[in-house]
Amino acid sequence: MKRNPLLAAGTLSALLFFACKKDEPAPTTPPDANTILGKYLNLNLDALPEYAQINYPVHYNPGVLADDNAPSINQVTNSGATLGRVLFYDKNLSRNNTVACASCHDQAKGFTDDLVLSEGFDGGLTGAHSMRLANANFYAGERMFWDKRARDLEEQSTQPIKDHTEMGFDASAGGIDSLIRKLQKLEYYPILFEQAFGSPEISEEKMQRALAQFIRSMVSTDSKFDQGYAQVFNPNAPGGGIGAPFPNFTQQENQGKMLFTAPPNNGGAGCAGCHQPPTFALGANSLSNGLDAGETIIFKAPSLKNIAVAGPYMHDGRFATLAEVVEHYNSGILDGPALDNRLRGPNGQPLRLNLNDAQKQAIVAFLNTLTDNSLLVEARFSDPFK
Ligand code: HEC
Ligand code: HEC
Repeated sequence: MKRNPLLAAGTLSALLFFACKKDEPAPTTPPDANTILGKYLNLNLDALPEYAQINYPVHYNPGVLADDNAPSINQVTNSGATLGRVLFYDKNLSRNNTVACASCHDQAKGFTDDLVLSEGFDGGLTGAHSMRLANANFYAGERMFWDKRARDLEEQSTQPIKDHTEMGFDASAGGIDSLIRKLQKLEYYPILFEQAFGSPEISEEKMQRALAQFIRSMVSTDSKFDQGYAQVFNPNAPGGGIGAPFPNFTQQENQGKMLFTAPPNNGGAGCAGCHQPPTFALGANSLSNGLDAGETIIFKAPSLKNIAVAGPYMHDGRFATLAEVVEHYNSGILDGPALDNRLRGPNGQPLRLNLNDAQKQAIVAFLNTLTDNSLLVEARFSDPFK
């Protein structure tokens, strides 16, 4: 193409004109990314909260950390988890801008809610009770949801978005592509995706990675249990010395700890065989816990950290209180193909613990020591929106 000499001259004088006005930014310079973010979010890209470096207490020893289910291709970064946090709290992720992940996973309630079934974007109810999210990274079985239907945290994280009850971007709403087009128009996302993954384009995979990073950084290490265990931890003692009385526990809490950790053939209730201290994530090999006769589905449970903050309990929210949960293990276990052998007695029949009232109350008191008040209020897990 032949160049127009007049146009070229015009461009040159325009360049000279702008070059002379040194004090004013060129008109095409985009406003500072932090200024754009600041319109919507309490975030500063130059001072992101710390997610990548976690200062684990001594009892989170290498054996415990080996259970971390973060894949090497998706290690937690501060910018990735920050993007995950924004997505987690953004109601734009639902079809009618009414529901965010945080609506059903409330930080103050241990990242769950206190309803039997949760309410989705259009008032419909979920098929199961919501789940706490702390220590989800320590579930070595990786699979997510009560019935383990999601392969891992990455795959799980966008399923609520596509669910017709939860957030509503199902096929009838154009699916996840329709959500991605919606998010691409929001000024803050291109900046946050660029920061986290090096390019502003939004994809389902990047959303999954960011959400999984944010959730994996919700590690619980500051409950009364943790504070006590750190004081007595001894790497050379069996179980890291967990059997020693914790100096910060009441006598009842220490009795509850003994019952929770010791196996039934040794005077305990055997809970720790499946809900493993110090993360209280379920052991990957755990089968079901005998809620229904003839059960064939193998259920998981989220970590018991923060269990006392909000009921109800179990996948269908059938128990309102922890006392009811303990009574289930004491006298209510029902047989079925999915029942775990740890919940059978020596005769193969469902286990009957025959605990007395003081013992049952002690287990409940112990479960109350798993409340992590730091995690319930930490700013880096709170709503970043203005
Ligand atoms: C309408 C309520 C609701 C919304 C919104 C919601 N969840 Fe959930 N979440 C649930 C329920 C209910 C379950 C259990 C569902 C099941 O097992 O069938 C669950 C389970 C999970 C689990 C599995 C935990 C485990 O240990 O297996 C994760 C992780 C999770 N949600 C993350 C998210 C993310 C990320 C979002 C937002 C993209 C989100 N949730 C939005 C209600 C909700
Ligand atoms: C064989 C493994 C196993 C043993 C032993 C076991 N549990 Fe569980 N526990 C589970 C499973 C699996 C679930 C999830 C069941 C469901 O909802 O379908 C669960 C659920 C729970 C819940 C509810 C979790 C929630 O998020 O609602 C509590 C609380 C609990 N167990 C406490 C205990 C206590 C206390 C003991 C000892 C008396 C115990 N468990 C023994 C496997 C076990």
